[in-house]
Amino acid sequence: MEFSIKNSNPEKQRSDCVIVGVYESHILSNAALAIDEASTGYITSILKRGDMDGKLDATLMLHNVPGTLCERVLLIGLGKELDFTDKQYCKAVRASVKALTSSGAGNVTTFLAELTVKELTVRRKVALLAEVMLDATYKFDAIKKKKIDLKKGDVKKGIATIAINVAQAGEVKDAKLGLADGRALAAGVSLAKDLGNLPPNVCTPTYLAEQAQALGKKYDFKVKVLEQNELKKLGMGSFLGVTQGSEEPPKFIVMQHLKGKKDQKPVVLVGKGITFDTGGISLKPGSEMDEMKYDMCGAASVIGTFKTIAEMDLALNVIGLIPTCENMPDGRATRPGDVLTSMSGLTIEVLNTDAEGRLILCDALTYAERFEPSAVVDIATLTGACVIALGHHASGLFSNNDDLAKELLQAGEASLDRAWHMPMWDDYQPLLDSNFADIANIGGRAGGSITAACFLSRFAEKYEWAHLDVAGTAWKSGKEKGGTGRPVPLLTEFLVARANKTN
Ligand code: BES
Ligand code: MN
Ligand code: ZN
Repeated sequence: MEFSIKNSNPEKQRSDCVIVGVYESHILSNAALAIDEASTGYITSILKRGDMDGKLDATLMLHNVPGTLCERVLLIGLGKELDFTDKQYCKAVRASVKALTSSGAGNVTTFLAELTVKELTVRRKVALLAEVMLDATYKFDAIKKKKIDLKKGDVKKGIATIAINVAQAGEVKDAKLGLADGRALAAGVSLAKDLGNLPPNVCTPTYLAEQAQALGKKYDFKVKVLEQNELKKLGMGSFLGVTQGSEEPPKFIVMQHLKGKKDQKPVVLVGKGITFDTGGISLKPGSEMDEMKYDMCGAASVIGTFKTIAEMDLALNVIGLIPTCENMPDGRATRPGDVLTSMSGLTIEVLNTDAEGRLILCDALTYAERFEPSAVVDIATLTGACVIALGHHASGLFSNNDDLAKELLQAGEASLDRAWHMPMWDDYQPLLDSNFADIANIGGRAGGSITAACFLSRFAEKYEWAHLDVAGTAWKSGKEKGGTGRPVPLLTEFLVARANKTN
């Protein structure tokens, strides 16, 4: 899909389709009004007939509208004009993609970015538009035999070019910046989705390490991959305890995007990279176990975010850490009751081998200390309990620092990739007491996402730290099964805001 920025009139477009918005109560947007005037009231007459009510999400495709040069005009319902915020705007853009994909239009011009959206600049509107269009047209066909399924005579081509129109010539420059923002973000989101969607026999720890290395080469940032023997030397007994039932070698990926000032302390992102989670000896039930290929989505979001900030050439120091392995049952696998010694020295009684994410993350959190980070954020599909608590809309946010939590919450709001602040009071910590080791790896069913976060907090005492539980947001189940690319938008927004603050 190719994007361009334009400043011109809707009735003068020689494109396959011109997209304009209509509010509820038949209120026309400026672009719709221009077409209405050029067609001597064609749009108003159609609205009067009741074919389009302007409700948010409603669409109506018109053909050969008099007085215009385009083949089609696509009306998009915008809902109430007073309620038109970023969320409604994105919904309208998404609705336009859906209507286009069931049409034969390949070259389109959209006037939706001209709409007034509460608190949004032109740059932000264009970025969101590109981001949403790319998100909505994402396809995962990398491993299908027939990549494009076009029957003979099928006219559906998909959207080839999109011209984004802005209201003033003076806005073109900002719109172009917005387009670059949106594209960069979409590239990271798309990569995160791809990595999540790949089957676990392809997307192994080795594959993830290779992808990170390829990315580093392409964008010229440093990538180091630590092998099993080095992990042993570092004393990562907890991480190694998870991988020991698997035939696939574990990897510990270190990515370094160092584009900030030399003495600027880095932000460290840590991503859970379990490329398949069977539960280990505490084996999971069989139904939907295939979805445990998504247990590396935290890692995917870190790699995706690195792609985005590399595309943006973001002036900030960011380190990415990814412990990655499989969690398999085997004769050599860790048993419930085993005690592991973590890199921090704390001993861990493994009461359930299915609580493995925290076991690989805790050693990565200890490793993070060496970077003297300004903040550490880990991202993990950590607990089913988080899905029960928050469903699929918000990621769970836990932190040992309220300012950092606030920054991440705000980044989530601004990027429409929201998180919700969960409690992590000391009251929960005793649930992790063990009779045989310093700490147990589970705290019982009640408050499962909180005790998981509490476990991690024990290894994050030396810096400001936050944890995002993305078990409910990183992928979708059912008919639309697939990675979502979340929380790449949140992380990107967080890093961009930090870069703006420090520079
Ligand atoms: N990867 C899972 C968490 C998960 C489960 C994410 C379902 C999305 C959907 C994690 O490793 C896990 O198995 N957690 C256990 C922890 C429990 C044993 C304390 C869980 O949530 O059941
Ligand atoms: Mn598990
Ligand atoms: Zn897991």
